[in-house]
Amino acid sequence: MLKEPLESALNDQINAELRAEYLYLSMAAYFEDEGLPGFASWMRAQADEEHSHAMRIYDYVLDRDGRVRLDGIDAPQTEWETPQAAFEDAYDHEVKVSGLIDDLVALAREENDNATENMLQWFVAEQVEEEATAQAIIDKLRHVGDDGPGLLMIDQELGERGEASGSGGDEAAMQPE
Ligand code: FEO
Repeated sequence: MLKEPLESALNDQINAELRAEYLYLSMAAYFEDEGLPGFASWMRAQADEEHSHAMRIYDYVLDRDGRVRLDGIDAPQTEWETPQAAFEDAYDHEVKVSGLIDDLVALAREENDNATENMLQWFVAEQVEEEATAQAIIDKLRHVGDDGPGLLMIDQELGERGEASGSGGDEAAMQPE
């Protein structure tokens, strides 16, 4: 049975993961509009992943006989100045999520809830991957700057992630685990 402070904090985390899904879907729409289908498909795959993060916690709350309570999700940003600006926002968002996971781990320890702490360790490792992946894409974008052909090459590379996700393969461009 989940204790109240953890149940409520885990519900907040479900909301944060769904907010991330919404943000990445909005970024996907922005990239589609910019004529960058590879970036768009990478963001769609990322949005799917955020959905699976939310559901992982959702199912955990149910397994512990807790109550899932969904909250509202604010409208996400819809426009960015450049692809790099969008990825910088994605990176900042991941850093924020990492902080939320750390806070949850601290709360689980405070409540002496080993099962929740154990479940959260998967997210601790996942956040390292997510931050590193976003950072690697920002680094590439910095290198190409305003170079159109360079941007299209990255677009093609990122598009391979969407294709690999769609076909169920594990090999994909700059894809977190
Ligand atoms: Fe689920 Fe990207 O944090």
